[in-house]
Amino acid sequence: MTTPVVEHEEEAWRGVAAEEIEHVEHAVGVKLQARSRKLLGELIRPHVGKAALAVLSVLCGNIAVLAFPLLIAATIDRGIPAATRGDYSVLLWCVAGYAVCAVLTTVLRYSFLRLSGRIGQDILLELRQRIFRHAQRLSVGFHEKYTSGKVIARLTSDVDSLQDLVEEGLDSLFNAGLSLIGITIVLLWLDLPLATVVVAGFVPVYFMWRWFRRRSILAYRGTRGAIAKIIVQYVETMNGIRAVQAFRRQPRNTQIMSRLNAQFRDANTDALSVMAVFIATIRTIGNVSLAIVLAWGAWRVADGSMELGVLAAFTLYVLRFYDPFDELAMFANSYSSASAALEKISGLLEEQPSVPPPASPVPLRHARGEVRFSDVEFRYTADTRVVLPSFSLHVPAGETVALVGATGAGKTTLAKLVARFYDPTSGVVSLDGVDLRSVADDELRRAVVMVTQENFLFSGSVADNIGLGRPGATRAEIESAAAEVGAHEFIAALPDGYDTDVRKRGGRLSAGQRQMVAFARAFLADPAVLVLDEATSSLDVPTERAVQSALETVLADRTAFIIAHRLSTVLIADRVLVLDGGRVVEDGSPEELIGERGRFAALHTAWRDSLA
Ligand SMILES: Nc1ncnc2c1ncn2[C@@H]1O[C@H](COP(=O)(O)OP(=O)(O)OP(=O)(O)O)[C@@H](O)[C@H]1O
Ligand SMILES: [Mg+2]
Repeated sequence: MTTPVVEHEEEAWRGVAAEEIEHVEHAVGVKLQARSRKLLGELIRPHVGKAALAVLSVLCGNIAVLAFPLLIAATIDRGIPAATRGDYSVLLWCVAGYAVCAVLTTVLRYSFLRLSGRIGQDILLELRQRIFRHAQRLSVGFHEKYTSGKVIARLTSDVDSLQDLVEEGLDSLFNAGLSLIGITIVLLWLDLPLATVVVAGFVPVYFMWRWFRRRSILAYRGTRGAIAKIIVQYVETMNGIRAVQAFRRQPRNTQIMSRLNAQFRDANTDALSVMAVFIATIRTIGNVSLAIVLAWGAWRVADGSMELGVLAAFTLYVLRFYDPFDELAMFANSYSSASAALEKISGLLEEQPSVPPPASPVPLRHARGEVRFSDVEFRYTADTRVVLPSFSLHVPAGETVALVGATGAGKTTLAKLVARFYDPTSGVVSLDGVDLRSVADDELRRAVVMVTQENFLFSGSVADNIGLGRPGATRAEIESAAAEVGAHEFIAALPDGYDTDVRKRGGRLSAGQRQMVAFARAFLADPAVLVLDEATSSLDVPTERAVQSALETVLADRTAFIIAHRLSTVLIADRVLVLDGGRVVEDGSPEELIGERGRFAALHTAWRDSLA
């Protein structure tokens, strides 16, 4: 799996000498920018035609705007003197030209805003959808380390900063950039000596610009990282709000949050102060050149070597010339922010699923449910310890296997491998003799269903939640599945029966009820292999009995792995595996193991005693 450069760089840089950071920063920056450019290219490609049209209209619009001071010069130097002689034709031409330019600029500006707005929104839509689709497709392993908060940051604040760029930044870039170029050309044409004064000002402006760009990108990379951390903290706090309140973690959370918020504020302040320095310097350069132009120009007008109208037009242009720099600085800021966001987004989009779909899938047809682990070694990541050192197991189709063992023994890990949420580090997990890595995802999910400890329900009706088990199931099938597992009575007693909204995460149902709904869902799915990671929470006796009989119904006629914490559940298994440190230490039917006086027998005695 490729690791996202951006996510690890922050931690990785701690403790590195400053000059090395400078070096690494440059290398990482180049890589990030290449990645962002590739993504940007992909996003813009479908809109090239429209984009060209938008650029054309902004170009023509700017040319029209440039004509205004020239028309004023012509009015002063030619129109007014002619009018004093009684000839109004030049003046009329000037006014007509002014009117035409005014209409043109309005129309062209309108069409540019329409076009660029449309393109921008289409690109943002595509980006939002891509991020969501991609994040959903990435493996469980990825989500366990990336956290949902970071994905949310990508989808919200990062996309938002791109939105700012698209909605305001591009407009100011085109206007500012084009008017700079246009004005320079007109100035050179109007009066070469005076224009050199203005052009000489470019040199300090250029160096300022380079300094500003570098600092601003760094500052905004900081803001993106900071806002992501804030969202991560929000999500974690809100998801765990019960624990937060129960253990009075509010002060600690507030403390963490204040620190993060302060970091965010500092990163933003830093970015803005860079901009303030830039704008102030540019203004000074502008004012100095304007003063020189005015002094020298006035002297030449007095001298008679320059016309007054030309000087008026010239100063008007120079005044206009330095205005766009404010806009450019604004643009550069939103551009820095957006490109930092794009770096993060492209990082997420470049992640590959760690359990990749097979290139040439082997069809399963009707899976029988024979599961085999051959010399499986497994660790979660390269830097964590081995959880399953060398695991081999054969489970014939239809067998119910109970996994028992101390906490951390590797039971859930084993279950996740059967459901292919992870691939083994080495060795093979196979279903009906086919390596799970060669089974198409659709077929695998139909053949193997895992009911997890969370019994996750989505907001929506009870019927919808059961129906998830088999897309396209009819209402009758859903109700009969519920009836089979014995959930019908309690569902029917809910305010709207099967149409009752279970609310966020099934919060409206009790733990036992959620488990029953999860069983009904699994029963409806009717998989060849069922993996059940049972919650440790103990249910009250009547509910436990109901869950127990539901379980027996669900387990019949299929291969099942159950991770059970209740003796009654373990006893319905055909075979019990006692795990310790990722190895099988006892393997046999419950009766055999009880007879052997090993660990399971000891556990069994303890259970018995606790029930008595
Ligand atoms: N996502 C993960 N990343 C790294 N290590 C993990 C991860 N999940 C579990 N582990 C480690 O793997 C080992 C086995 O965990 P596992 O969840 O399989 O235990 P378990 O037998 O299901 O325990 P329990 O009975 O408490 O549910 C533990 O040492 C745990 O620390
Ligand atoms: Mg577990």
